Amino acid sequence: MMTGRGIGTPEIAGGPARHIPVLVRPVVEHLRIRDGGLYIDGTFGAGGYARAILAAADCKVLALDRDQSAVAQAAGLVEEMGGRLTVAESRFSALDEVAAGFGITAAAGVVLDLGVSSMQLDQAERGFSFRLDGPLDMRMEAHGPSAAEVVAAASERTLADIIFLLGEERHSRAVARAIVKAREAAAIRTTGQLAAIVSRVVRTRPGDIHPATRSFQALRLFVNDELGELARGLMAAERILEPGGRLVVVSFHSLEDRMVKTFLASRAGSRMGSRHLPQAAPPPASFSILTKRPVGADAAEIAANPRARSAKLRAAERTAAPADAADRPSLPRLPALADVLRRG
Ligand SMILES: C[S@@+](CC[C@H](N)C(=O)[O-])C[C@H]1O[C@@H](n2cnc3c(N)ncnc32)[C@H](O)[C@@H]1O
Repeated sequence: MMTGRGIGTPEIAGGPARHIPVLVRPVVEHLRIRDGGLYIDGTFGAGGYARAILAAADCKVLALDRDQSAVAQAAGLVEEMGGRLTVAESRFSALDEVAAGFGITAAAGVVLDLGVSSMQLDQAERGFSFRLDGPLDMRMEAHGPSAAEVVAAASERTLADIIFLLGEERHSRAVARAIVKAREAAAIRTTGQLAAIVSRVVRTRPGDIHPATRSFQALRLFVNDELGELARGLMAAERILEPGGRLVVVSFHSLEDRMVKTFLASRAGSRMGSRHLPQAAPPPASFSILTKRPVGADAAEIAANPRARSAKLRAAERTAAPADAADRPSLPRLPALADVLRRG
């Protein structure tokens, strides 16, 4: 049953959230929330989606976030929901394993709201923003190598590849060259330093995005292995969704949206066999697509929340066919983070 209670309420227990949930109404509608269902919110953030799901029916939510500060902030909402909400610190690539730890083997819905929250972006000390000066960190988790370590260790070629493949920055080679030249003179430790270095080589016109936008996106995706997480998260969702269960993904840039689109198209039956192998029957479709074209925010939402401008929602319904463990989404060809730190 869907009652629509509370949809769009950008608040969490204990006061207004600084992160305004994007596309929350279409998220709830596409999940088709029902009484008794168990829903997995893989990206809890400020809890906007979890709250809206719990308000829509008498259901339960298991929410995950890899950022321990998001999980810590959830305590009030967990208490308010009286046993209907569980929040765990974890990556969504492991969502089925985490769910199994709570005795959950099937879900009626999985939602992923990709990228960073406003809380992460707006705290200078997290080092995500080129607009605020802070340490060049960019980690969603409190461990692992920071963006400053990558910028210090990566070879010029690797930096250029990261910035081109994960930022789609046309001037990636010039940016990489400028970074290497600058770090020979002094270590690049802050977001302000990096933004200034990039801005000297990427020219923009008035009204364009900030010149460092693409380079910062690339480093953030690399440091947090965000595309690898998405690829594994989609497969984990395929494993845990029950027949009729819904997958909803909200993405904010073309690399993510392309991966979601390609994954769903392939799972929905438009898979091609290999040209080099004898023709076998394609595996049965494990999803049927609900959104032929991605759903975006309307003018009112964009006016109220400019972050919604680039949001794209795609949704699909799980069939009864088995999950396909062999067909993995393809990822940009880049060295692993650990190898970059060791070998540049
Ligand atoms: C855009 S925000 C989600 C906002 C949330 N839907 C809300 O309404 O408040 C993204 C959140 O997902 C988390 N996140 C990003 N990638 C993740 C991953 N692979 N596993 C778990 N959490 C992740 C981030 O730490 C961040 O808190």
